[in-house]
Amino acid sequence: MSAQTNGQVNGKQKDRSNLIPFSSRLKEGRALAQDVWSIFNAANLPADCINLGQGYMNFAPPKWIRDAAGEALGTIAANHYSHPKGRPRLRQALKNYYSPLFGRDLDVEKEILVTSGANEGQYSVFVAFLEDGDEVIMFEPFFDQYLPSVTFNGGKPVYVPLHPKQSKEKISSNDWTIDFEELRRAITPRTKMIIINTPHNPVGKVFTREELEGIAALAEEFNLLVMSDEVYETLVYDGKQHVRFATLPGMWDRTVTVGSAGKMFAATGWRVGWLIGPESIIKPTLAATTRIVFCSNSPLQEAAAAGIEEAVDRKFFETQRGEYEERRNILTACFDKVGLRYTHPEGTYFILLIVGQDISNIQWPENFPFPESVEGRGRDFKACWFIAMEIGVSSIPVSEFYCEEHVNIGEQYARFGFCKDIETLKHAAQRLESLRKYIVHP
Ligand SMILES: Cc1ncc(COP(=O)(O)O)c(C=O)c1O
Repeated sequence: MSAQTNGQVNGKQKDRSNLIPFSSRLKEGRALAQDVWSIFNAANLPADCINLGQGYMNFAPPKWIRDAAGEALGTIAANHYSHPKGRPRLRQALKNYYSPLFGRDLDVEKEILVTSGANEGQYSVFVAFLEDGDEVIMFEPFFDQYLPSVTFNGGKPVYVPLHPKQSKEKISSNDWTIDFEELRRAITPRTKMIIINTPHNPVGKVFTREELEGIAALAEEFNLLVMSDEVYETLVYDGKQHVRFATLPGMWDRTVTVGSAGKMFAATGWRVGWLIGPESIIKPTLAATTRIVFCSNSPLQEAAAAGIEEAVDRKFFETQRGEYEERRNILTACFDKVGLRYTHPEGTYFILLIVGQDISNIQWPENFPFPESVEGRGRDFKACWFIAMEIGVSSIPVSEFYCEEHVNIGEQYARFGFCKDIETLKHAAQRLESLRKYIVHP
């Protein structure tokens, strides 16, 4: 028998660094794996590296919305708990804005739920609806939070890749398509839910009505809950139309639509989002979100309400869309000039640069030093590391947004975010031009 005194075992200091085993769900959800964000983070990259990797802005929300936040802080009520459903002013603003867009008179008590960012809203839906072993279909590449949020709640992700057109011509986000036979094969008796993301991060794809109708038919046939992640709804370019899945015939009753003030108003740190759907989905989700956060932060709900109330009259979304189009065009013009190929995005603020084997390739010197965290990962990890270290612009390897089986699709791409001010993007474009000397045409 070992003698234990003062944390010592047989005279030796006992290792107390891992006394309590953590839950295995952290492993299944990749929550403990070193993710791209920690590899490609500022601490590991050159100090003056321009960050086009992460999907947040380097500019503030509009002043009139920030002023509304300040005003809210000056009141007593907005410094205290809100109703778990969300502050009445925000729910009313959401009702007024969205009712015409959904073609129905939304009920502020039963059909709108304010959440702590889209992310927490989505998590709450999984809490409310998933049983152990329920399968959730997600298209690849997928927004990386979906995976742990599903597995933490006992769900099993089932991956269906979008397929980029293989062509020597220019490719647009519309050329990434669904193989509907493959989608049908992915559905089993355990399939509970399908997640759609339109406009899509990171492809920039704005799903067409026909594509959504194809998904709707399967959702009806197999009785699926549909989560339609539309957080980039106001960032749609080139005259494309954003189709709300819930507005397709028969889809309202099985769809929860996800929105985000962070994306709408360049305020990702505010953590204000919302869910819109029928009472049968919102009510159980309210029960979940109430346990998780109780309510979302109050003053910034007031500010988001001011944003929604005034956006239409101020033509804010039109102006913002124009600004993002200009930002996108700086990067695409640069890639065109250098001779690099990419997916032309019709929505969101991301561009996928082709960094895999293609008709024009980025070829780094054979002896270029890569850290251990990048060695052994897809070609995209090396390309992103090389571009960050040598050119001084960071991006994100897209294979991170795929399951292991489909890494070969993702590793062909690096994601560049254009949610940055014009000056930063011009500076980045200038730097990216020096990629020219590393391009080979196999
Ligand atoms: C597709 C998608 N859904 C949801 C979110 C989360 O949004 P929020 O910041 O409101 O939680 C993001 C953020 O990057 C996203 O890209």
